[in-house]
Amino acid sequence: MRPRVLSGMRPTGALHLGHYHGALKNWVKLQQDYDCFYFVADWHALTTHYEERDVMERYVYDMVIDWIAAGLDPEKSTIFIQSRLPEHAELFTLLAMGTPLGWLERVPTYKDQIEKLKDRDLATYGFLGYPLLQAADILIYKASYVPVGEDQASHVELTREVARRFNHLYGRSADFEARVAAALALLSKDDARYFEKQRKAFGETGSPEAQAKGEAVVRRAALSEQDAELLLGHLKGSGRSILTEPQALHTEVTKLPGLDGSKMSKSYGNAIGMREDPAQVRQKIERMPTDPARVRRTDPGNPEKCPVWQFHKVYSDESTRDWVVRGCTSAGIGCLDCKQPVIDGVLKEQQPWRDRAEAYLANPKQVHWIVEMGTERARTVARQTMKDVREAMGLNY
Ligand code: TRP
Ligand code: SF4
Repeated sequence: MRPRVLSGMRPTGALHLGHYHGALKNWVKLQQDYDCFYFVADWHALTTHYEERDVMERYVYDMVIDWIAAGLDPEKSTIFIQSRLPEHAELFTLLAMGTPLGWLERVPTYKDQIEKLKDRDLATYGFLGYPLLQAADILIYKASYVPVGEDQASHVELTREVARRFNHLYGRSADFEARVAAALALLSKDDARYFEKQRKAFGETGSPEAQAKGEAVVRRAALSEQDAELLLGHLKGSGRSILTEPQALHTEVTKLPGLDGSKMSKSYGNAIGMREDPAQVRQKIERMPTDPARVRRTDPGNPEKCPVWQFHKVYSDESTRDWVVRGCTSAGIGCLDCKQPVIDGVLKEQQPWRDRAEAYLANPKQVHWIVEMGTERARTVARQTMKDVREAMGLNY
């Protein structure tokens, strides 16, 4: 069994080169070594765009087409849509019951986004719950690894805390407390009191000393192996692990900025779509701003101050990059010359995406079918987890 990887993207419509180099390329690579689950986080998109009901469906399928065009293989990866699996909502609700408000208010993206998206009213219950819904997405598939950008690290951290708390609260059998009490009664009164004191100290501070002292009491008492095990488990606060603590997978990603050098984003108008028309791609790159110091063709430039150079770093080989540096700093080449290899590189990269997407655009049913298969595969896993969760919480009636 290969370890499971899970990740999601909010449907923002057709993807651009920044999405590809920052995430999707890596998703494709992970298919070789992991059991990959990739989904469209349409509920997450609603937390900020709850009014935009007319575009969601198109955005969802445009994005899935881009995924497949880029090389996600529906035979290898499970591709699905969050909102088709109400199990995510059920787990979100159950986790919400015991998640302290402060944990969510303290997630750094919460205040950041409210600050950044000032034109939207994000003082909603759904938006506060964003990272907890994400935790449910991850935990329901017992994923080991979550490939996400640095900006999402705090969400994976929250997920780990939520899982730990859940396992602590529910990861024990119904008679756990009674069995612990019975085992404690076998100790002398003083030992029992001392043990409980160390257990509390360990629970609050994690002090290894308290743990060692607690263990020593258990070891020297004349207890059955079972009772000793039970008390050692009680001491560490560990129970059965029902939900898996995931790890963020911050693999190396290629940073490709937008045409103007700032972060590539559709809303900044500085993006190149993954499947954008070749003539338009050419025009966009030809119009890219360059080192502002190069006013005339005869002025030397500095690639470090030029967004085109960032594209060369992604698209050009070493000899071309040498040619750029020499030509730019000596005013030996013009900016339009310099941009040609970038144009060629982008168009060449995009060609297979366009070719692959064509078949799906002509036959949308095929895309629906792929998503349908993935959704059913995901449902099998999600249902099983929910069964375990309900049972652990005493809800299997
Ligand atoms: N919040 C993620 C983003 O904006 C999308 C997402 C939702 C996600 N649920 C997830 C990513 C679960 C990884 C795992 O990019
Ligand atoms: Fe930028 Fe190339 Fe022009 Fe130099 S020559 S300023 S690197 S586009």
